[in-house]
Amino acid sequence: MIKKCLFPAAGYGTRFLPATKSMPKEMLPVVNKPLIQYGVEEAIEAGLSNMAIVTGRGKRAMEDHFDVSYELEHQIEGSDKELHLEGIRNIMESCTFSYTRQIEMKGLGHAILTGEPLIGDEAFAVVLADDLCLADEDDGDGDGVLAQMVKLYKQFRCSIVAVEEVPMEEVHKYGVIKGEMIRDDIFQVSEMVEKPATEDAPSNLAIIGRYILTPDIFDILRETTPGVGGEIQITDALMKQAKEGCVLGYKFKGKRFDCGSIAGFIDATNYCFKKFY
Ligand code: G1P
Repeated sequence: MIKKCLFPAAGYGTRFLPATKSMPKEMLPVVNKPLIQYGVEEAIEAGLSNMAIVTGRGKRAMEDHFDVSYELEHQIEGSDKELHLEGIRNIMESCTFSYTRQIEMKGLGHAILTGEPLIGDEAFAVVLADDLCLADEDDGDGDGVLAQMVKLYKQFRCSIVAVEEVPMEEVHKYGVIKGEMIRDDIFQVSEMVEKPATEDAPSNLAIIGRYILTPDIFDILRETTPGVGGEIQITDALMKQAKEGCVLGYKFKGKRFDCGSIAGFIDATNYCFKKFY
């Protein structure tokens, strides 16, 4: 059973400067809820109860968010304002949080390896909070993306990446896979390239920020040399796993917003405002 979810959250969020100068990008609110909370809620819905967050300097606000705020809670006690805290209180009751700091920024693969002491020797999920994923009752049975992937893991017992078809002119922003289709929404990965030029991309199936990883990934990451952008890439480590065993690409059901970009963030905000408020 998968119980742990790793959140690499040490990045600077430069695309959102100046908002992110002193505030973690994971704390940017989509309407009135920070991005990281959407990710944690998705993980809880998937049955995970141990949130492992890889943070960095200047990211204390995240730890405070998932903790009690005595002064505030005392102030609003007994008033209807307390209702606004219900969601976050439920989260704090249903899971644990552990943190470790990434001292140097050496890429997503390095961030995941930094989280190893919080994960240990078991399969785990990874959520990149700036990809906001929401279940969509018109597409699938209402499960969140991570819940769909956990189900798939129970069946296949190997690493799984969530993929989505994107326009060819956007593949350079993503890890891109190619593979044999083994079900209409599952590919067995045979090729995987991080941020390819359009002409080098093996397909338009882009990896989005949801992964299930088997723990042998840590040993592979230790041996992985820097790739694109001089960074240790999870994509390169996964390609090794795919060659030696099996990695699946899963075309998830639901909606995904790229909240790492201003346009995606605005789309997510409009969508959530209409849907939830
Ligand atoms: C990372 C991964 C990339 C993946 C993307 C999804 O890139 O390296 O393979 O497609 O997340 O959001 P980043 O967006 O951190 O540059």
